[in-house]
Amino acid sequence: MTNETVLQVNDLTVQFGGVVACDNLSLEVHQGELFALIGPNGAGKTTLVNAVTGIYEPKPGASVKFRGRNGEMTDLLAYRPHQIARMGVARTFQNLGVFDAQTVLDNMMLGRFMHEKTNIFHYGLFSSVAVKKELAARRVCQSIVELLDLQDVRDELVSELPYGVQKRVELGRVLAMEPHLLMLDEPMAGMNAEEKQEMVRYVYRIMDEFKTSVFMIEHDMGIIMAIAERIMVLEFGREIATGVAEDIQNNPAVIDAYLGAEH
Ligand SMILES: Nc1ncnc2c1ncn2[C@@H]1O[C@H](COP(=O)(O)OP(=O)(O)O)[C@@H](O)[C@H]1O
Ligand SMILES: [Mg+2]
Repeated sequence: MTNETVLQVNDLTVQFGGVVACDNLSLEVHQGELFALIGPNGAGKTTLVNAVTGIYEPKPGASVKFRGRNGEMTDLLAYRPHQIARMGVARTFQNLGVFDAQTVLDNMMLGRFMHEKTNIFHYGLFSSVAVKKELAARRVCQSIVELLDLQDVRDELVSELPYGVQKRVELGRVLAMEPHLLMLDEPMAGMNAEEKQEMVRYVYRIMDEFKTSVFMIEHDMGIIMAIAERIMVLEFGREIATGVAEDIQNNPAVIDAYLGAEH
């Protein structure tokens, strides 16, 4: 693992009964990289993210190392999901993860405080610690609102907003934790071409502004080939290829997997 590595996964296997969802997978995400994970439905993509973020427990022998913003390296397998989130690994879910009865800004505030060790309200209403934390959080959330062009809808209920904007709010909610590695599970699912392009633009902006590395699961091959620095392809839990777009596009095993899945 070099200084430029943000995430290093080795020998990761996750099994559900007889199904080997992830079969001895190893990968590395570099600092500042947009790394993509693709593969047909049921290939094990979401399971991999769930194992990295502490939701599923891999078989013994796996290692998942993360280098945080401070340069410190941690073996994530020793920690629980909320601890991993606090260390700087944020993830979105395949299904929309927003609080739709709350405003846009409140979603971000919730995103920030959900992973706090102590709930802000436990400090008591007038304690200076609580006030300072709240002010700092508001500053961070306001800057995210601006980065994602959500100023105009900041105080609106999320349920009233179009789907593409709701997905942007979800992105903002996980950004409120100031992550060092962002794991996005099909962030463009259900979007039209214009919304997808918009989402790509915001992901670039985030990477640029916050120096966040991105691990993205995505189905749209055209987009992935255009934006990902490296791509890993899974099929039935196994790695069939990892490389730059050109290598992936011309890889016979990848072509087989996709033709097999779609025709
Ligand atoms: N919690 C679970 N319990 C049982 N089987 C699961 C669970 N999660 C995923 N699987 C199985 O693991 C395999 C991979 O699923 P998943 O990681 O969701 O695939 P992908 O995200 O690539 O579509 C599938 O066969 C799926 O049915
Ligand atoms: Mg999935």
